[in-house]
Amino acid sequence: SFEVQVASTGEVIPVAADETVLMALAAHGIELPASCEQGVCGTCLTRVLGGEPDHRDMYLTPEEQAQNDQFLPCCSRSKSARLVLDI
Ligand code: FES
Repeated sequence: SFEVQVASTGEVIPVAADETVLMALAAHGIELPASCEQGVCGTCLTRVLGGEPDHRDMYLTPEEQAQNDQFLPCCSRSKSARLVLDI
């Protein structure tokens, strides 16, 4: 598991192995726009300010994924212990 930090408030939210980042945020009252929830549409695209995402989407190009400055929280996870999100 890993945790995400909400940059605007500093809040740190743990993400369990059986939930998505989107679900973990929603459980803490933070509803991000989402549609497909399968990493296809790009609706949930979120900027990443710190940490290394574990990209599992089919929306970003490999080059975009390699920049590690945005990710799709409906399906992607984290390789680092913490991701800092620009929300
Ligand atoms: Fe479609 Fe995340 S909701 S890519």
